[in-house]
Amino acid sequence: MMSKKKKKILIIGGSGYLGQHLLQSFSETHLQEIAFTHHSSSSPPQILLQSLPIDVIPFQVDLQTGQGFDSISHNFGQPDVVVNCAALSIPRACETDPTVAMSINVPSSLIKWLSSFTKNNTLLIHLSTDQVYEGTKSFYKEDNETLPVNIYGKSKVAAEEYITANWSNFVILRSSIIFGPQTISPVSKSLPVQWMDCVLAKGEETTFFHDEFRCPVYVKDVVNIIQILTDRWISDGQNIQMLLNVGGPDRLSRVQMAEAVARVRGYDTSLIKPVSASSIDRGVKSPADISMDISKLIQTLSFTPTSFQDGVKLTIDTIT
Ligand SMILES: NC(=O)c1ccc[n+]([C@@H]2O[C@H](COP(=O)([O-])OP(=O)(O)OC[C@H]3O[C@@H](n4cnc5c(N)ncnc54)[C@H](OP(=O)(O)O)[C@@H]3O)[C@@H](O)[C@H]2O)c1
Repeated sequence: MMSKKKKKILIIGGSGYLGQHLLQSFSETHLQEIAFTHHSSSSPPQILLQSLPIDVIPFQVDLQTGQGFDSISHNFGQPDVVVNCAALSIPRACETDPTVAMSINVPSSLIKWLSSFTKNNTLLIHLSTDQVYEGTKSFYKEDNETLPVNIYGKSKVAAEEYITANWSNFVILRSSIIFGPQTISPVSKSLPVQWMDCVLAKGEETTFFHDEFRCPVYVKDVVNIIQILTDRWISDGQNIQMLLNVGGPDRLSRVQMAEAVARVRGYDTSLIKPVSASSIDRGVKSPADISMDISKLIQTLSFTPTSFQDGVKLTIDTIT
């Protein structure tokens, strides 16, 4: 058993999409002291701070340089759990600047900072991606070979290798596309279900890929998975080294995702025009089929994933 003192949770990249959902959920339980990092703006999102039920402490940190970590040591102390959601997460941006992608996505400054504490037992929960896989078969398992086709995937493989070699208490989550409601302080990037809803609502024909497959995962499932892992570590204190595929239960093309949105909304599905992903140049290679086998996730955490259709309904409910 770990001591009964309130545990400290640090969300790196708390200003991002997943990070804000985590802050919202963790702060509702009132069980932990919570801090988070933001990066590009010198002030944290005020609307987020104001709407959370408890005080969470913001820190500005740059993962490229490690600037800002000292202030966390002085003002918050060693975290019991770190969730690393920070990344250059847009594949095209990684392709444009591989050096920057590597220096942000491989969390060497974070691990160096964690190593500076005398007790080296913080649990690191790190977000990786399904894009570590090549995309030439269906339902990848965790022990299948990684062979990324783009810089984003390569930087995430390098991150996994760095963590495995340099830290002894970690869980790496290879996440598929995360979908769900917008965050309290809206993120600027386009969200998949909201984007499909928006284009189909216009009643114009729109093209969608029929030959790229993913296992989109509902954001609140990802939050629950992180919560389960955190609770487990807090209650038993056993170091872990674990790698998990994190996807939803459905293997879907973009056409099938759009059809699900149209069904939930009652839009005309004939507006959805299937095209091949190979017909469009997105400035970055995209793996074709990186659907994942999630049986290890389900068994290890006794977890029931939300279907895409149910997740879309829950997401649409927050828009209307
Ligand atoms: N969303 C998805 O569909 C998806 C799918 C698979 C895997 N993932 C992975 O899951 C994680 C979370 O994704 P997300 O969608 O929440 O990402 P996101 O919305 O793009 O958020 C990225 C976060 O990283 C921070 N950041 C960027 N550059 C930084 C730097 N140099 N130093 C410190 N922090 C920096 C950003 O801070 P500021 O905004 O304050 O600058 C932001 O908080 C990422 O690792 C991503 O690769 C996401």
